[in-house]
Amino acid sequence: MKIFVTGGAGFIGANFIHYMLGKHDDIEIINFDSLTYAGNLENLKGIEADERYKFVKGDVCDLTHVTEAMKGADIAVHFAAESHVDRSILEPAEFIKTNVLGTHNLLMAALKNKIKRFHHISTDEVFGSLELGTKDMFNEETPYNPHSPYSASKASSDHLVRAYGDTFGLPFTITNCSNNYGPFQFPEKIIPLFLVNAFMDKPLPLYGDGKSTRDYLYVEDHCEAIDLVINKGKEGETYCVGGGAEKNGIEIANVILEKLGKPKELVTFVEDRSAHDRRYAIDNSKIKKELGWQPKHSFESGMQKTIDWYTENRGWIENIRARQRISG
Ligand SMILES: NC(=O)c1ccc[n+]([C@@H]2O[C@H](COP(=O)([O-])OP(=O)(O)OC[C@H]3O[C@@H](n4cnc5c(N)ncnc54)[C@H](O)[C@@H]3O)[C@@H](O)[C@H]2O)c1
Repeated sequence: MKIFVTGGAGFIGANFIHYMLGKHDDIEIINFDSLTYAGNLENLKGIEADERYKFVKGDVCDLTHVTEAMKGADIAVHFAAESHVDRSILEPAEFIKTNVLGTHNLLMAALKNKIKRFHHISTDEVFGSLELGTKDMFNEETPYNPHSPYSASKASSDHLVRAYGDTFGLPFTITNCSNNYGPFQFPEKIIPLFLVNAFMDKPLPLYGDGKSTRDYLYVEDHCEAIDLVINKGKEGETYCVGGGAEKNGIEIANVILEKLGKPKELVTFVEDRSAHDRRYAIDNSKIKKELGWQPKHSFESGMQKTIDWYTENRGWIENIRARQRISG
């Protein structure tokens, strides 16, 4: 089985490639990635020599290239995206280009290459915001109500995938997942940012009152869910994936400071993000019931692994910091 992966040099994509090559002998992976600031070939160290793996530097916005590179693949797993909400507020056009037009290119390329399964990686952010203090949860029937250019661009891409299924018969599946954390996550997202800042005794910036809540899933559990969906998931279906671990920003900061033995005074409250969603929570029952998936990591065990990984891989962090200094 040949799997065409987009965005495999990013956080979840790289974890997925490691997971798949470690678990299955009989697969080949083509990693198609344009290497934006978030793409990092260091995330794939150790597998470049694996003959089942091939890297192609390319942009999903380049239809000719992506169609050519996908030739011979059985399955496409589409991770490539601009993924950071704050950046989408500063530069929305980049998000529309990659997440909407780029996804549309991939759909055209998938049809042309007669891909047997197009799996689209999406987010719970497309559903909008839940009230704090309620037990409401997102599920596969929740209407879309995105608030940021990032979530609106991901919502658009989900709609396009379904439209290509309905209109052209493209065999697809979609997963809408909650906040991932773990190795290789670019230090702009809350957990690696707080870890890196805490290592350097720098402030941990919390938006608003710090009480906005997200569901957290250890990235390897997400990879396992994707593996299950592409192999056993029903064509045309969507699966919501979450860790069942709701945490707010203050709780995340406290865990990190406590584990690293750093003072609570490093927490700093900053002006809230515009249109900041208050709470996300995921009802996992469909993927649990239909595919037998459930997260193997508790929040505590996932966080311990994550903290250990960032502690042991300070060189990885330093290389990113050096690259950022060079690009200004
Ligand atoms: N990180 C999360 O918590 C989370 C949660 C749910 C869903 N998702 C989704 O999962 C996917 C991966 O997220 P991530 O956190 O790994 O993102 P990331 O930002 O770490 O990585 C994105 C990757 O895509 C590549 N890329 C960006 N634009 C490209 C283009 N035009 N052509 C080719 N490659 C391009 C980048 O170089 C990078 O390697 C995204 O679609 C995101 O929306 C992420």
